[in-house]
Amino acid sequence: MSKPVFKFENVYLEKNGKTILEDINLEIFPNEFFVILGENGSGKSSLLKLFNRLELNTKGRIYFNGEDIEDIPIHKLRDKVIMIMQGATLFEGKVKKVLETYIKKLNLNKTPEDILDIMGLNYSNLEKNTENLSGGEGQLIAISLAIAKNPDIFLLDEITSALSITMGALVRNKMKELQKQGKTIICITHNMENAVEVGERGIFLKDGKIIKRGSVKELIECFGKDEEKCIKR
Ligand SMILES: Nc1ncnc2c1ncn2[C@@H]1O[C@H](COP(=O)(O)OP(=O)(O)O)[C@@H](O)[C@H]1O
Ligand SMILES: [Mg+2]
Repeated sequence: MSKPVFKFENVYLEKNGKTILEDINLEIFPNEFFVILGENGSGKSSLLKLFNRLELNTKGRIYFNGEDIEDIPIHKLRDKVIMIMQGATLFEGKVKKVLETYIKKLNLNKTPEDILDIMGLNYSNLEKNTENLSGGEGQLIAISLAIAKNPDIFLLDEITSALSITMGALVRNKMKELQKQGKTIICITHNMENAVEVGERGIFLKDGKIIKRGSVKELIECFGKDEEKCIKR
């Protein structure tokens, strides 16, 4: 078996005296499509943020490719591990100019057209203002920029929940394609059908604890059930 890309050992996250995540132990392997499920407020987003150190664990150890995450310079980590969130906002201005700014900032060897090609967006968008893009189009551009950075690992926090059915399917297909190319995907979704469609293995969180591990089909049985029933199944 291959070595895990991420390993969490007895990880806790405490904020303002409140335990947000409790004794998290998990391993994520290269090229997995790993899903984090759980009700609202169960700690999914907080957990995802530990992977690229947007949140810092208060106890326990996190390893990235066998190296203690605390020993890795943050920019090096974030070159390889990219988070895409729901409702990502772009700089204001004409799309073409804004994309040129991001391309320069992110040091990408690409043109604005290359970026639009990633998610199949029309070049006519280049002449629009970013404020005049629909939420879905803006989100697709943000996703395209993340893909253009060519990270090894994608952290996805509910990225399709504000998208139309068509755009959501487009994004899921793209993520599956990236997995086929060798990327690792760690994904939060509240849409169970979507989770089954894309995800393989994962965890179910409740009150900051992992209460079940398994295939996505097994995990979705936990929604709306109390802990004992969910564990018994
Ligand atoms: N800064 C904070 N201080 C105290 N509690 C917080 C803070 N940020 C988040 N929380 C709490 O942590 C819990 C988990 O939140 P979150 O990770 O956003 O859950 P999810 O993404 O599953 O909806 C929630 O109960 C939330 O209220
Ligand atoms: Mg969340």
